[in-house]
Amino acid sequence: MTGEFRIRPAGFADVKAIHRIETLSFLTRWSRWSFYSELLNPLSTTLVATPAGDPSRVVGYLVYWVAAGEMHILNLAVHPHWRRRGVARLLLTAGLGRARGQGARTAWLEVRPSNRPALALYESLGFVPVGRRPGYYEDTGEDALILELALAPEETETP
Ligand SMILES: CC(C)(COP(=O)(O)OP(=O)(O)OC[C@H]1O[C@@H](n2cnc3c(N)ncnc32)[C@H](O)[C@@H]1OP(=O)(O)O)[C@@H](O)C(=O)NCCC(=O)NCCS
Repeated sequence: MTGEFRIRPAGFADVKAIHRIETLSFLTRWSRWSFYSELLNPLSTTLVATPAGDPSRVVGYLVYWVAAGEMHILNLAVHPHWRRRGVARLLLTAGLGRARGQGARTAWLEVRPSNRPALALYESLGFVPVGRRPGYYEDTGEDALILELALAPEETETP
């Protein structure tokens, strides 16, 4: 039930919780400083999901850039305890809408072909494979799949 959750921009006070989720979610992790530096970068947006009744508890996050009409999704994770409850879908839907408002016409990301949950999530939102970066992930030597989504123009722009 996604009505259980809210999405808001992250602040510096959220970084500790974001980094904890990062640590629980990835083999190769961003440092805590990486998340701080994203908050300082004007091209970058970090969104967090919180339970509706507990806005200070971070259960998931999304980091993306918007530049040159493109949204590049850089990081997404949900705390293991809160998975399969629609949190990632809600974060992405919110992020895609905001990025469109910031001028993005396409969204793209890299994903490991072995990451079935993430692939299922992105495909359910309409992302399609457009390329592959051989040996992109240094920890396993795995290729990266590049997925892309065309963003529909905002309603106010349609004739
Ligand atoms: C991938 C991840 C972000 C999904 O978060 P989530 O909040 O559990 O995802 P949601 O509940 O919003 O799921 C939305 C859809 O994604 C797909 N999906 C999510 N997890 C899945 C799983 N374990 N197996 C299969 N499909 C899955 C389903 O289509 C799901 O819809 P459904 O629940 O109606 O079937 C989460 O598993 C995670 O943090 N993984 C580790 C970090 C990671 O891999 N990040 C992505 C890097 S590219």
